[in-house]
Amino acid sequence: MVKICCIGAGYVGGPTMAVIALKCPSIEVVVVDISVTRITAWNSDKLTIYEPGLEDVVKKCRGVNLFFSTDTEKHISEADIVFVSVNTPTKTRGLGAGKAPDLTYWESAARMIADVAKSDKIMVEKSTVPVKTAEAIEMILTHNSKGINFQILSNPEFLSEGTAIQDLFYPDRVLIGGRETPGGQKAIETLKEVYSHWVPEDRIITTNLWSAELSKLVANAFLAQRISSVNAISALCEATGADVTEVAHVVGKNTRIGPKFLNASVGFGGSCFQKDILNLVYICECNGLPEVAHYWKQVVKINDYQKTRFVNRVVASMFNTVSGKKIAILGFAFKKDTGDTRETPAIDVCKGLLGDKAKISIYDPQVTEDQIQRDLTMNKFDWDHPIHLQPMSPSAVKQVTVTWDAYEATKGAHGICILTEWDEFKQLDYKKIYDNMQKPAFLFDGRNVVDPEKLREIGFIVYSIGKPLNAWLKHIPVVA
Ligand code: UDX
Ligand code: ADP
Repeated sequence: MVKICCIGAGYVGGPTMAVIALKCPSIEVVVVDISVTRITAWNSDKLTIYEPGLEDVVKKCRGVNLFFSTDTEKHISEADIVFVSVNTPTKTRGLGAGKAPDLTYWESAARMIADVAKSDKIMVEKSTVPVKTAEAIEMILTHNSKGINFQILSNPEFLSEGTAIQDLFYPDRVLIGGRETPGGQKAIETLKEVYSHWVPEDRIITTNLWSAELSKLVANAFLAQRISSVNAISALCEATGADVTEVAHVVGKNTRIGPKFLNASVGFGGSCFQKDILNLVYICECNGLPEVAHYWKQVVKINDYQKTRFVNRVVASMFNTVSGKKIAILGFAFKKDTGDTRETPAIDVCKGLLGDKAKISIYDPQVTEDQIQRDLTMNKFDWDHPIHLQPMSPSAVKQVTVTWDAYEATKGAHGICILTEWDEFKQLDYKKIYDNMQKPAFLFDGRNVVDPEKLREIGFIVYSIGKPLNAWLKHIPVVA
């Protein structure tokens, strides 16, 4: 029986290993993590992460050929294939701070593998890491190998949260990068065999190590670039009276462009986009390509601009002050169908409103109060360090309340901001919400989920990203 061990039981490691276990009954899969809390949760009825379909998969395999453990050393030493799926946060200090990835967790995982390995192993780089990390890891392993043969593969993850299980069941492609040596090619074949249990052969792409690593960064940079492009156009639409949804529809009909990933929003979030682009920028700078670095940096800058623009729009519309006013925040996760808040635009929007002394009341169907309090007190780039995975006593942000009901959150509010596109926000009884709000009642839709005309009929003053403004909003200058 082939044994797989995955280091890191997070958003990538957990779902990916669960699907491998489901599709490959002949393989034993053990997911290990340093966080006892995480492993305990994976072994309980309340999994660490919310992901549609995940629970079903885990329930089918857990205890059969899928295990979650904190006994890292034992399971690494027994495994034939070790996936490394640890976090790679952005460095907060020192060389490359604010851009370069912090490889502390990766390096300590690699050193532990070198330490405990007693037999040959294939190491699979699964986390998003910058180009040439595999080479660094290879160096650590070979210099500490005690005669053991390590083959390094890069097998980047392309799953998208909220649809992770479907993405894993039916991937657009599986990418495996490895050394062009006979040993490297053999390792590629071994991993290919694992995926062949359910992925058609023509969807498994093999490349050299560096192409695989770079492709992951580039794919995410291209996706993020589409959002920043449409978001930049949303500002122009508001200024000129065009409707960004119509423009995106027309543009997306061009088959060379395609319709996906063209929804204007308050900004992109998630653990990958910003981090990957900053990695790309750093790599370009380190390779003497400042123009290329500048080009990609702009994608992140437009994303920050979009969030600032949204906050300014809220404050300016509400007579230039939100001090002491209750603002309801509907949705805190970085997208629907996930409880993940890493880099969610809601953090920056809430911080911006709190900076203007608003009182905010937040409702998200999947995000806990503890998580929200933690996010709002955290510094930029601190979000991806494991200490934050541990429970903490919230140092309550006084102006913030968190509710478990959209009607409660909006009761008595002066304004509403929709920051995540949860389906349930489309079905709310907005007449009831309007009746319970202060007047004039403002609604700022950062995800274009409501029909602005219908809400205007109720009496709301509505702002929707990139849509024609009503008379009041049109006359308010917004400086981003
Ligand atoms: C992304 C990539 O899609 C995935 O391939 C990679 O492996 C990890 O990063 P993820 O971050 O989970 O996945 O979510 P994604 O669906 O890409 O959304 C990212 C952000 O962009 C979200 O905040 C989302 O709301 C936003 N978005 C997406 C838009 O604002 N408009 C769109 O049209 C699409
Ligand atoms: P991702 O979204 O990439 O999966 P997460 O932060 O959700 O990232 O998961 C990474 C996991 O890796 C965390 O649960 C963290 O505790 C774990 N981790 C980090 N370093 C190590 C290590 N040396 N050994 C085991 N687990 C680790």
